[in-house]
Amino acid sequence: MEELKNIIRDVPDFPKKGIVFKDITTLLADAKSFQRMVDLLAHRYVGERIDKVVGVEARGFIIGAALAYKLGAGVVLVRKPGKLPSETFSKSYELEYGTDTLEIHRDAIKPGEKILIADDVLATGGTMAAVVDMVKTLGGEIVDCCFMAELDFLQGRSRLRGGPSL
Ligand code: PRP
Repeated sequence: MEELKNIIRDVPDFPKKGIVFKDITTLLADAKSFQRMVDLLAHRYVGERIDKVVGVEARGFIIGAALAYKLGAGVVLVRKPGKLPSETFSKSYELEYGTDTLEIHRDAIKPGEKILIADDVLATGGTMAAVVDMVKTLGGEIVDCCFMAELDFLQGRSRLRGGPSL
């Protein structure tokens, strides 16, 4: 676990001054580390029913697709506005300055389906809280939210409490 933490690169002052960016590309590029990360995360859900893994644009697609493959689940994309071709459900959420919006295909999740949501990094939790809301609105039952890394000092977890296993 410690090796996985260490291979994630800290980039100071990105995307703006004062922010230390957790760059997971270094982990993705290392075959053994990527395989270990996918195996570690997937292991938590072996034996559980997971119908679909929802991946959050953009880096969440990578871990989400790998987990879905391992768990024998489908992949659902949550994308930035205007990217999904069919009928979408949108959710806007607050950022430190301004708002952001995410979209999901309305028919991507059927009521009662068991859903795992995956993203690369949990920071403030605003993104994941919005995705949780979208999945619940479509009738999905959230099994868990998982991440490759967490900025624990931002306490994003506190925004995710209240779901079945959140
Ligand atoms: C990053 C990251 C998460 C989100 C976490 O995405 O990949 O999705 O921020 O932040 P939060 O917990 O404070 O909401 P970003 O918006 O940079 O999109 P990208 O993956 O497309 O670069």
